[in-house]
Amino acid sequence: MVQVPEIQLKKVSAADAFEDVLDLATRARDYVILEVGHAPDTEYIRQFFEETPPGLSRDCLSHFCVMLGEEIAGIICIADGYELPGDWWLGLVLLDPAYRGRGYGKQALDLIKEVAAAEGKTALKLAVLDANIRAKMFWAREGFDLHRLAPATPDSDGHDRLVLRYTLNTRGEQHETDR
Ligand SMILES: CC(C)(COP(=O)(O)OP(=O)(O)OC[C@H]1O[C@@H](n2cnc3c(N)ncnc32)[C@H](O)[C@@H]1OP(=O)(O)O)[C@@H](O)C(=O)NCCC(=O)NCCS
Repeated sequence: MVQVPEIQLKKVSAADAFEDVLDLATRARDYVILEVGHAPDTEYIRQFFEETPPGLSRDCLSHFCVMLGEEIAGIICIADGYELPGDWWLGLVLLDPAYRGRGYGKQALDLIKEVAAAEGKTALKLAVLDANIRAKMFWAREGFDLHRLAPATPDSDGHDRLVLRYTLNTRGEQHETDR
């Protein structure tokens, strides 16, 4: 079997990585266009760094670059404490298309699961676009279950979403689901 090089998650901020994150998002614009209808711009990156889930402040946010050696292969945003205090909400997991389908998404997620469980978190949650077939398959394969449907509303961006959930235990181990 071919060995996949290990990725690392590097914590970043807008001050030190705004341009790098814009560059990554531009390489991964297929997803951004699906989500917001246009290529990433500085406003999209500002929102990546600053937009908080309802009721939370900016200090709940953590941003990471997925590093493969010196290369930035992806970006991740996590909100601590949304929707429940024990939840980590994955606001965005976005890989450069050149690094997709090679096991790096799973590696990044395994690292997130490990750190979240070690910090005593009980669940990972995220909202996936119903139109994002490949991502839905990825999350299902990685043990995420449907938590609730979040259909488009007259005030929303027009996307139907599925909120998915993965249960962690607090001993730093993972188990599949909490059916
Ligand atoms: C969704 C996303 C994060 C998944 O990451 P990924 O790296 O593509 O997914 P994986 O790590 O699981 O790669 C799995 C695929 O790689 C293949 N693969 C190749 N070598 C592998 C290896 N050594 N280990 C694991 N999988 C490997 C698997 O067979 C699998 O192929 P399949 O998708 O045809 O079944 C990524 O595709 C992405 O950024 N997509 C665009 C943005 C997006 O949709 N984000 C999610 C928003 S909710």
